[in-house]
Amino acid sequence: MLENLPQVGADPLWELLAEFQADKRKDKIDLLVGVYRDETGVTPVMENVKSAENQLANQAASKAYGMLSGNGTFNRNIAKFILGADNPRLHNQRTIQTVGASGALRVLADFIKRLSPNVVIWNTNPGYINHQPIMEGAGLQVSSFRWQDKGGELDINACFADLEDAVKGDVILLHASCHNPTGIDPSLEQWQQFVDFCKRKKITPFIDIAYQGFGETPEQDAAGLRLFVEQIDEVLITASCSKNMGLYCERTGAAIVMTNDEEKLAGISTLLERITRSNYSMPPNHGAAIANILFSNQEPWLEELASYRDRVNGIRQGLTDALTKLGAPSSMQVIGTQKGMFSMLPLTKDQMIALRKDHGIYGVPNGRINLAGLKQSQTEVLAKALIAVLDK
Ligand SMILES: Cc1ncc(COP(=O)(O)O)c(C=O)c1O
Repeated sequence: MLENLPQVGADPLWELLAEFQADKRKDKIDLLVGVYRDETGVTPVMENVKSAENQLANQAASKAYGMLSGNGTFNRNIAKFILGADNPRLHNQRTIQTVGASGALRVLADFIKRLSPNVVIWNTNPGYINHQPIMEGAGLQVSSFRWQDKGGELDINACFADLEDAVKGDVILLHASCHNPTGIDPSLEQWQQFVDFCKRKKITPFIDIAYQGFGETPEQDAAGLRLFVEQIDEVLITASCSKNMGLYCERTGAAIVMTNDEEKLAGISTLLERITRSNYSMPPNHGAAIANILFSNQEPWLEELASYRDRVNGIRQGLTDALTKLGAPSSMQVIGTQKGMFSMLPLTKDQMIALRKDHGIYGVPNGRINLAGLKQSQTEVLAKALIAVLDK
């Protein structure tokens, strides 16, 4: 069998990470991997998560198997958090706990493949590095539409020009907030344009909400998603607790399927469970149990989350101020208007290499940087390096 093993190259991101680790320069900066870091460069365990874990340890709950759909309380809690506690459409959905949002993406990709095998999934370009492989892994066809213009803003005309090729039944995959990798989120008016487009062309919206509370408040970050839920019958949603609870390695997420046809809800649950059963049976419970404690007393958790958000926004502002002071082009200063941890630098591959080789600053070759990797004291260093590589 193994004589057929293909030569698969290493993941370029992990190769770069290894290069960063081997780099001897003391002032090197890692803007590669998409995790939150504090001012000391650490991805912390939230204080609220630590106290929830203590509580769970003392309770010594059973480790017996759970349900195929995971932790039922978590499913109710996360649906309320995403859709809003008094959303009347909470009755029109089925939620299943998943192995992170990545697991949710795969479960819903399998779900789509079973029901509409020939649809096209419309994905933003640039897009989250794993969206396309996960959709294609389930056997779905993916097409893309342009997202960012040269000035670093949403290219709404290009979006809809490309999407004109979508046909009835196709699916549009959108990021609810903090678009990865560009940090460019639609305004509410632009979200409404996407809703109108879905209505007009009978396209199913598929919204991935991986950063709720990281760009603005959780309510504001869900506002675009809720427009779809308010106005469109069938909506697919994937969600992550990796970033807003810092539960990355606990692999905690959810998949939601919405429909007004209540007779279909039981069948939706059965199919979702059948899909997980043939993959990994059921998701791990620990992250969901922690999340339930955070959901049950939200104020201290949301305060801690706000402190994360404020730090990233502070870095954005600091970098933008430094760039403005140095007379950077507006396509760089626009970083200040973007949301969440990521931005795409308007730099070529060679300029990104120069940033790495000449300045010890590591970003993804396509220009993506994780601003949370930066300390306040480094914003000026980065701004100067960005200006310096412009003529490379
Ligand atoms: C847009 C988007 N969706 C999904 C995920 C996956 O999240 P999880 O860690 O919950 O699998 C990420 C993680 O970076 C992401 O950026």
